[in-house]
Amino acid sequence: MEFQPVGLTGAGFTTGRKPLLAGNWKMNLERKSALGLAAAVRERLGERDDCEVALFPPYVYLDEVARLLAGSRVKVGAQNCCDEASGAFTGEIAASMLVDVGCDWVILGHSERRHLYGEGDALVGAKTKAALAAGLAPIVCVGETLAQREAKSTEQVISAQLVAGLAGVERRSMERIVIAYEPVWAIGTGKTASPEQAGEVHAYLRGVLAGLYDREVAARTRILYGGSVKPDNIQALMAVKDVDGCLVGGASLKAETFLPLLEYR
Ligand code: 13P
Repeated sequence: MEFQPVGLTGAGFTTGRKPLLAGNWKMNLERKSALGLAAAVRERLGERDDCEVALFPPYVYLDEVARLLAGSRVKVGAQNCCDEASGAFTGEIAASMLVDVGCDWVILGHSERRHLYGEGDALVGAKTKAALAAGLAPIVCVGETLAQREAKSTEQVISAQLVAGLAGVERRSMERIVIAYEPVWAIGTGKTASPEQAGEVHAYLRGVLAGLYDREVAARTRILYGGSVKPDNIQALMAVKDVDGCLVGGASLKAETFLPLLEYR
């Protein structure tokens, strides 16, 4: 059943949503280029505190990248984690291990996990709870496919993903949660959602949050946009009222395309 969002007109809360720019490296780069890129981002960000920046290297480089960035304003996160705390789960990585190597963040429910590896809404919800229990800040991803958009089921799909992804998450834990709207048709395709499309969906998601929690949580929770974000379109996307940052794939892999994103203003 479609979740009924709550209207947010005139909510009137101080939102304090600091922009977050996140670079999801996916299964790219190797040790040397990963460390070089992380160092370049650290230099460029310096002591600036008008936005937050987080990098998401492949698991095997997390430790080294986190060491390199320790004490800087650039944070590190993983691209996934296990829903279980420990045990016989060959090939999996526990949230507590990510904390152990210096991660603050974890991306959960990315569309590539959902569509290429069959992760369902319930598993994403279990991972969210495991990540919170270990002390990580989850970025919970939602997004519709092109067929779903064309069938006008975007709202139904993303509200179901969001409700399941946050199942059992207490109100106070929402301070650590970030939502990312990544339309599947815009990921790695060079097609970006227009600012109007992103604005509509972000406002809708905020309404879903208000229904799940309350209007204050909805007004305070950051919602990132992801899908072919580039230096030439970030400004228009970030100008949208409900867009609080970007989750960047391809353009986060090179200093030439990622560093300009930090200067989107
Ligand atoms: P692209 O920026 O390459 O489209 O990837 C977006 C994404 O999936 C970030 O998580």
